Amino acid sequence: MASIPNTVLCRLEDITDGEGKGFEIERDGKVLDIFVVRRGATVLGYHNVCPHVASPLNWANGSFMTLDRKYILCDTHGAEFRIEDGHCISGPCMGDRLTPLKVELRGDEVVLIEL
Ligand code: FES
Repeated sequence: MASIPNTVLCRLEDITDGEGKGFEIERDGKVLDIFVVRRGATVLGYHNVCPHVASPLNWANGSFMTLDRKYILCDTHGAEFRIEDGHCISGPCMGDRLTPLKVELRGDEVVLIEL
């Protein structure tokens, strides 16, 4: 478990292209669930909390994505979110969005910059 921002989460190759990977981050004594989606050499990070009823998006099967990998999917009630900005485009929280966090690629390492 990573404990502070500005820390290496994993290597780029640890995230399958088009998929997401979850991480636990400790902050102020609390454990936060986050995830990072990879699109080629681009990485985008979000808190793993659905804006609908605040459940983790991947509780059912561990996956963060729709089958076609075009959208982030919430397993609970099927909300779909755009990868690039976390905006919900279908489902019960349409118009809402995931909470972003700052991640970047440094060499081949995925680094959490800011929660
Ligand atoms: S909790 Fe995510 S769509 Fe309901």
